[in-house]
Amino acid sequence: MAARHKSVETKYYEGRDRVLRALRNCDRRTFLKLSAAALGAVMAKGLTPPHTFQLVDVANAGVDKEWSGTGAAGAAPFRFAYISDAHLYERTLNQRFVRAIVKAVDDVNALDPQPDFVLYGGDLAQLGSPQQLEMGKQILSNLKAPVKMMVGEHDWFLDLGEKWQELFGAPTYSFDWKGVHVVVLQSVYEKDFWTARRLTPQERMQTVAGLDNPIQSRFEVGEKQRGWLKNDLAKVPHATPLLIFSHSPLYKYYRPWNFWTEDADEVQAILRPFHKVTVIHGHTHQMLFNQIGNISFYGMLSTAWPWPYAPEGLPPLTVQMNRADPFDQFDGCGDGQFSARADGLIDTIYNLWDRNPVNVRADYLVSRGRVDRPPAPQFASY
Ligand SMILES: [Fe+2]
Ligand SMILES: [Fe+2]
Repeated sequence: MAARHKSVETKYYEGRDRVLRALRNCDRRTFLKLSAAALGAVMAKGLTPPHTFQLVDVANAGVDKEWSGTGAAGAAPFRFAYISDAHLYERTLNQRFVRAIVKAVDDVNALDPQPDFVLYGGDLAQLGSPQQLEMGKQILSNLKAPVKMMVGEHDWFLDLGEKWQELFGAPTYSFDWKGVHVVVLQSVYEKDFWTARRLTPQERMQTVAGLDNPIQSRFEVGEKQRGWLKNDLAKVPHATPLLIFSHSPLYKYYRPWNFWTEDADEVQAILRPFHKVTVIHGHTHQMLFNQIGNISFYGMLSTAWPWPYAPEGLPPLTVQMNRADPFDQFDGCGDGQFSARADGLIDTIYNLWDRNPVNVRADYLVSRGRVDRPPAPQFASY
C-alpha cells in the first residue's frame, strides 16, 4: 500500500508540473506566482494533495432487486470524472479561478486508475470572451483522460455560442459507452430578450451573468432540440441505461435564480419510458440530488465558488453541504467522480476540497432515501 501511495503522490506532482508548464504563455513572473500559490494553498492546509480525491470502490455495490428493475443488458462498470463551472476571467483580471481549475486538473490526473473520460460541465468562461474560452481549452488539454465538453450560459451569450463551437464543436451530441447511451444537451437556450431592448452582445452577456435579474428568459432545451432528443432515443432500447448531461438542472428548482429549465417537464416525458436514467448537471455549484420518477439527478460542484442553497424548492433528498468559509478560497468548491454500475445505476463522489469526500449511492435516490443516507459532509480533521 505504501508503494502505491507514493506512486499516486509522484503522479500528482508530475501532473501538477505538467499543467503549470502548459501555461507557458504566462510571463515568467505570472507563472511563478501561479505555481507558488497552488502549492501554498495546499501547504497552508497541511494536506497531502492526493488525499482529497482517493478512489472509493463502489462500482460493484449491491442493489436491492426492488428498485434495480430489469437490469441493463451488456452494461459494464466504468468511471468518469468531472470538472465544472470554472468561470475563468482573463488572467490579468483574476488568477484565483485559474488556480482552482488547475487544481481540479491535478486532482483528476492523480486518479489511479484514470477515469474513462472527464466531463467538463459548462461555464468555462465568466463572460464568454475568446480569451477566456481559449485559456480554458488550454488548461483542459492537460488532462490525461479524454474530455467531453458541455456548454454553459456564461460561455454562450456573448456571441451565441460562435467561439465555443469553433473550439469544441456541436453543443448537442450523443455516444454509446460500455452499454450506456450518453447524451449531452445545450440546456441554456433563452427566448430573445435582447433584440427589442437593443442590447449589445456585452450587455446581453452581462444580463445573463447577473444575479436575480428579471429581464432574461428562463433556460430551455427548446422544441428543436427536444425533437432531436426524441429522434436520438428512438433507436435506443428502453432497458439501456441513459446518462444525460445538461448544464442547468432538468427540473424546476428555483425560478428567480434560473436554477430551472422551463421545458423540464417535456424533457422528462421523453426520458420516462427508459428504466434507468441519470441526469448530471452543472450551474448550481452545490451538492444537490433529486429523484423524479425513474430519473436520478446529481448537481456538480464548481471549481470557482459554491452558490448558496435556494430559499425554497430544494429537493428533499438533498443533503446540504456545510456553509463555505469565506476565508478559504477553495472551501465548498471541488470536482468529482461518477461510477456507472453494471446494473445501470450511477453512484457519485463529491470531492469537496479540504473536506471529506461524500459518496452518494444511487440506491439512496431510487429508494427515496430508505437506504444509504449519505453522510453529512465534514471538515477534514487532519
Ligand atoms: Fe456556473
Ligand atoms: Fe451556469
